[in-house]
Amino acid sequence: MIKRVRSWWGAEQNDEQPPAVSKDNIPQHVAVIMDGNGRWAKRIGMPRVIGHQNGMKAVKRTAIAADELGIKYLTMYAFSTENWTRPKEEVDFLMRLPEEFLAIELDELIEKNVQVRIMGHKEHLPSHTLAAFEEAIRRTEHNTGLILNFAVNYGSRLEITEAMKKLGREIEGGTIKAEDITPELIGKSLLSEEMPDPDLLIRTSGELRLSNFMLWQLAYSELWFTDIYWPEFNKEHLHEAVAEYQRRSRRYGGLK
Ligand code: FPP
Repeated sequence: MIKRVRSWWGAEQNDEQPPAVSKDNIPQHVAVIMDGNGRWAKRIGMPRVIGHQNGMKAVKRTAIAADELGIKYLTMYAFSTENWTRPKEEVDFLMRLPEEFLAIELDELIEKNVQVRIMGHKEHLPSHTLAAFEEAIRRTEHNTGLILNFAVNYGSRLEITEAMKKLGREIEGGTIKAEDITPELIGKSLLSEEMPDPDLLIRTSGELRLSNFMLWQLAYSELWFTDIYWPEFNKEHLHEAVAEYQRRSRRYGGLK
């Protein structure tokens, strides 16, 4: 018997068939707020870090599924500038995860032509965390497939503040004039640099907020929220999000 389910936004769908994704309108850049690791672990009676460990597996699943769909950029919010306020043991664990992830997965990512990048305030990261990312960046820099961009020690308000300081210094130094500042120049001065803005933002765990993530870049992104906790996120959920994205009409404030 085919069971019909109602997803949270109310669209009725068939839970035995993956949602149909058209090859024609694949988002170029998908950004993900990976939330609910702690609650997922609690639900199964495990410590929070087990949620992060399983969240790491979901990162790999999602990267492979995104690559298969033809998504070019996948930005994952792995650690925010506010996450330092968590208990030291949890922060230490999270800062060790990239080493573990890359030690286990880097060869396969290279095989799949994935390019690893990071976006964040690198200077404050522990040296072992940065070294792991730098090695992955170096070993994948010539890859031409999916760009897997980890937002680590990332905070949008700090990013915008730093960009404003940089532009301010350039005005003081006489290399630009205040009139030269345009939305394009501000965009290029951010940590995302030349990357296109995300077309689609996914946030898991039922929370409906942006949490200081890519506030400038998400101005016209389509937002998709799911109650699923991040460690459970899989290919079908990504397809569901992309299929919903393809049903949206993007007008950028204009008329269709
Ligand atoms: C939010 O869930 C998740 C994080 C703060 C960490 C996300 C990190 C990963 C999924 C692993 C990243 C992997 C690599 C390789 C960098 P939460 O802890 O806030 O969950 P809760 O809201 O249920 O407590």
